[in-house]
Amino acid sequence: MRKQIAAANWKMNLTLQQGEALLDAIIATPHSLNEHQQAIFAVPFPYIAMAQSKLAGKKNVFVAAQNCYSKKSGAYTGEVSVEMLQSMGVQYVVLGHSERREYFQESNQFLADKVNICLDYNIHPIFCCGEPLEIREAGTQNAFVAKQLEESLYHLSAEQLQKIVIAYEPIWAIGTGKTATSAQAQEMHAYIRSQLAAKYGDGVAANISILYGGSVKAANAVEIFGQPDVDGGLVGGASLIVEEFAAIIHALKK
Ligand code: 13P
Repeated sequence: MRKQIAAANWKMNLTLQQGEALLDAIIATPHSLNEHQQAIFAVPFPYIAMAQSKLAGKKNVFVAAQNCYSKKSGAYTGEVSVEMLQSMGVQYVVLGHSERREYFQESNQFLADKVNICLDYNIHPIFCCGEPLEIREAGTQNAFVAKQLEESLYHLSAEQLQKIVIAYEPIWAIGTGKTATSAQAQEMHAYIRSQLAAKYGDGVAANISILYGGSVKAANAVEIFGQPDVDGGLVGGASLIVEEFAAIIHALKK
């Protein structure tokens, strides 16, 4: 079974003290992850060390960064390199979140560069894709997402591709409370997997975890995660609430 993942994306939220309290409370909530389940916490850069020390020794639990820069090192004031993240023991980085695409003009090509440097340092990208509302309304979401995948990922070898986690996040469902229906999520996830299969073969495609993101909460996680091609979620708002995120972890396929 491919990995089933509950990934928290804290975005630019919480003070250090609030983040500490949130992790303490989540740790204190009884949950057990089996060998094909993972919980990942994508925390703001300044909290990575804190999160790692809180979560040290917890099985199948990882700390992720929410971004990285595309260059190895140098005069890029304010940026964070993959080498820095690797030196801290970070194993996952969220790339291409729609907020970064929109507010920081991150293009598919720029993201391809970030994917490459992550893989050079053996860090797993959690690669986000997903269409805006007008594309969904025009019914051209498949082509839109296919282009994102093609331009940022399809230069990779099959071996490299298998290090990637994909997160499908329809922009119209992010932070809006308007979740894609489980059927809409399944349809797109199956489409993404079919595209990966066409390019890399069924065996490779079957092993790639594809997470759904966009207003996932305790009340809808079981149904969404229950879809055959949905392998968990990338969760914003609900990941900041202990009971919600604990229930979302619990909703992962067993
Ligand atoms: P919400 O869960 O708040 O809709 O955010 C989704 C998201 O963008 C996760 O990366």
